[in-house]
Amino acid sequence: MLKVLNMFKIAKLFRFKRSNLLYLVISLAILLWCVSVGWGFTQALAAKPSHILAQSRSLPPLNPNRPTVEAGKELYVSTCGGCHIPVPAEVLPTETWQELLENPQKHYGTSVPNMIRLTQVLIWDYLKTNSRPILQRDAPVPYYIEQSQYFTILHPRVEFTEPITSESCVLCHTGIKDFNYRTLTAEWEDSP
Ligand code: HEC
Ligand code: HEC
Repeated sequence: MLKVLNMFKIAKLFRFKRSNLLYLVISLAILLWCVSVGWGFTQALAAKPSHILAQSRSLPPLNPNRPTVEAGKELYVSTCGGCHIPVPAEVLPTETWQELLENPQKHYGTSVPNMIRLTQVLIWDYLKTNSRPILQRDAPVPYYIEQSQYFTILHPRVEFTEPITSESCVLCHTGIKDFNYRTLTAEWEDSP
């Protein structure tokens, strides 16, 4: 009789333990998930543009209109268009954007405010996706639009006589306030 009672108790104990184990497993799984998500975020935010650059070279091409690029473009226009027009990504090589983004405190004698890590990462996604690396190996990184080969390549018809600065774009581009470089003054729209 006592034996049976004992066995019953043990069986009850087992049931209790099994459900306890289940709780333990579930909480461990949740904990693990939290830690891994947190780790992923820290990695993403701590990564320097150069690290992301290295990573993205080995990955298959991504959709150029993905949401992070769109968000990056908006942040770019608001963060980098405060003092001068937001310079379109394609007129300068990727290396220039990388240098400028990594050194917001040393920006042509001033500093770019509001450059928190997330802003930096998203803006980098936009700039990297819409620019190309320097054409010639070991060529110096151009810090002015005027020195950029891509600017020249994008202007096959134009012979510039005035100095090229971020203030002169508006002479021919009428859509700058909408960040649109396709619309031109009538003079250029009409010419072949
Ligand atoms: C606090 C004001 C300010 C902000 C904000 C700012 N810049 Fe500038 N930027 C300047 C100044 C000043 C110059 C130098 C202009 C000159 O020498 O003619 C400059 C020049 C530039 C040039 C060279 C333009 C040329 O004439 O060839 C680029 C490219 C540039 N900035 C990119 C950026 C980017 C990218 C950001 C955002 C991360 C940014 N700027 C935000 C002040 C600012
Ligand atoms: C003298 C007129 C003129 C000035 C100044 C000028 N552009 Fe242009 N831009 C053009 C013309 C014209 C085109 C079309 C390509 C061509 O016909 O050469 C063009 C094309 C472009 C394009 C390619 C647009 C596209 O998507 O097809 C970009 C980007 C651009 N310009 C940026 C700039 C920036 C940035 C500045 C100022 C630093 C600037 N341009 C100054 C006349 C000008």
